[in-house]
Formats: sequence, C-alpha cells, structure tokens
Amino acid sequence: MKKKYARITGTGSAAPDNILTNADLEKMVDTTDDWITSRTGIKERRIAPDGMAASDYAYQASLKAMEMAGITAGEIDLIILATVTPDAPLPSTACILQDKLGAVNAAVVDIVAACSGFIYGLSFARALIMTGQHDKILVIGVETLSRIVNWKDRNTCVLFGDGAGAAIVTAADQPGGILDTYIKADGSLAHLLQVPAGGGRQPITPEIVGNGARYIQMEGPDVFKSAVKAMGEAATKLIEKTGIDSNNISLMIPHQANIRIIEATARRIKLPMDRVFVNIQKYGNTSAASIPIALDEANRNGLIKPGDNVMLVAFGAGFTWGSALIEW
Ligand code: ACO
Repeated sequence: MKKKYARITGTGSAAPDNILTNADLEKMVDTTDDWITSRTGIKERRIAPDGMAASDYAYQASLKAMEMAGITAGEIDLIILATVTPDAPLPSTACILQDKLGAVNAAVVDIVAACSGFIYGLSFARALIMTGQHDKILVIGVETLSRIVNWKDRNTCVLFGDGAGAAIVTAADQPGGILDTYIKADGSLAHLLQVPAGGGRQPITPEIVGNGARYIQMEGPDVFKSAVKAMGEAATKLIEKTGIDSNNISLMIPHQANIRIIEATARRIKLPMDRVFVNIQKYGNTSAASIPIALDEANRNGLIKPGDNVMLVAFGAGFTWGSALIEW
C-alpha cells in the first residue's frame, strides 16, 4: 500500500462574543487584575451565553476550517471531537455536530483528554490516514468550561474560558504534514485536577449541587509543576524523534494555560519567545480548544508559511500530555 501523509489543509475557530474581563472578576471574587495578569498572563476570557453549547461553537469553527480546505461536509469521513464539556452526557457532541454539518458520510467520536484532547485527536487522525482507513478527518477541540467552573472559587474561576478550534486533516501523497506525534498520560495524578461529581461514582444529587463537587477542583501549584515538566518532555521527545531541533522550529503553539508555563517550556527547548504563539491574554485556558484556536489565529495571521515546522505541545487533566510536529 502506498504511504499516505496527513496534512492540515484547513483551520477554523470560534468563540462567544461575550467577554469577561479581569475587572469584571474583581467584582465577583476577591482578586485583582494585577494578580491574574502577573500569575497567569490572562486579561479576559469568552463566556458562552445561556442556551449555547459545545456543538454550536464546534459548528462555527468547522465551517471555517472546511471553507479553507475547500471541502464539503459530505466529503468528511471521520469527526474526532475533543471536549470535557459536551452538550449532554449522551449522545456524543460529535454526533450532534455531524447532524448540524450534514456530514452524513462521517464516522464520529468524542474523546476526553482535557487540554491535550486536540493533540490526541491529531495523533489518531494521522495514524488513521497513514493506515489508509480514512482520508478526510475533521478534528475539533471545543469547550464551554464556564459551565463547570465554580464562580465562587478564585483559585480556578479566573483561569478558564470557552471556545472552539477545528482542523481538516487530509490524506496526501506529498511528504510532510503531521510528521510525528507523542502522547502520554499518568492517571495516578488524576485527583490534582478533576470534576469529582456528575458521573457514576458521585451522581448529581441535591447534596452534590450544594457542595461544589460538580465543578473543577485543582491543586494549582502541583499542576503547574507537572505541566512544566511534561510539556518540556513532550517537546523534547519529538525533537529527539524527528531530529528537528529548535533552530528549525519556526513556531511553537503551546497549550495556553499560564504564560509562565509557556515561557518555561520555551526555555526548556531553547526557543526564543518571538517564535512562540501566545493568545492567552484574550481567551484564558480553553482546555481542548486552546491549541486549535491558537493554530487558526497563527495560520490566518500569516505566521505559518508552507514548509515551516510547527510544534504543538499540551498538558491537561488526567494527567495527559503530548506534542505534534507539523511541516506546514
Ligand atoms: N486572586 C488573588 N489571589 C489568589 C487567586 C486569585 N484569583 N487565586 C489564588 N490566590 C492566592 C492563593 O490563595 C494564595 O494565597 P496564600 O499565599 O495566602 O495562600 C496565593 O494567591 C498564591 O497561590 P498559588 O496557588 O500558590 O499561586 P500560583 O503562583 O501557583 O498560581 C495558578 C496559581 C495560576 C493556578 C498556577 O498554579 C497555575 O497556573 N497552575 C496550573 C494550571 C494549569 O496549567 N492547568 C492546566 C491544565 S487545565 C485543564 O486540564 C482543564
């Protein structure tokens, strides 16, 4: 069988219009713009209005990616949608999106890998294209984290936001595209970043609704340390595997969780910050959506040119982490 390459031929992103600034948060919890900006780099985030859900933003982002790739919904043969904030527990958000798009020829699946979800999705898409099983795959990262944030907890509510990013991954004969990926997990550290209730272990009851267990709980400093270590490892592994070092990486697009984590990752692979894409100030941490939103903004702003090597690197709840190296 002829070897196929997995190329990203279209990107798209979408976010709610509604902006929540640090000044707004100062009125909600005991915090300051100065604390949030200096500790995280975040200035504002987008919040989905009532009635809007993940599939709505996934739909908007997907249409833009399809338009750029020049393909119709009927040509998509697989949808991989990464989220921890689905429209509903059942069915998958990918099923709801398939119907909205009219992607009637696509197999569809949701994956849960938190902030690493888009990297996991790209990794699976690349493998399925290289084995010849699929040709045109829509990979999406989307979140409405505002729905699982405790707006009374200043340790977490200042960090997160809503949005969606999408990419069309297409089978190609021409070498290049997603050169390699690296994905990892360590479930023994799950308790450091979790939503304890809402599943089979702690179903939603009136008591649960009152005690906050249905919201994100995070041990921030422990997560911070693990994120710095794991993102550095993920970037380094792909540099070792591909032989493409920081001198030859045109742009790194890291998960946008904290500017200090991003800077530490760049230092680890000796990449100057002028080759690191940062938009955390506008969106906060949008988990699975953060990398595809950033990828789309970098792409549409002309920061990525054909032949450029682009490194994506992520870390999230689970813990999960990973990276992807793309020759554009
Ligand atoms: N405003 C003001 N003060 C605050 C706030 C706030 N919003 N939040 C916490 N503080 C206080 C704390 O109470 C603490 O006060 P104390 O010293 O009196 O106890 C002090 O600030 C320092 O708190 P730390 O948690 O030690 O602050 P730190 O410098 O570690 O920053 C942060 C906290 C921003 C959460 C950081 O730890 C972080 O970014 N962690 C990683 C988050 C992350 O990467 N998540 C990625 C995955 S997310 C996902 O998968 C969905």
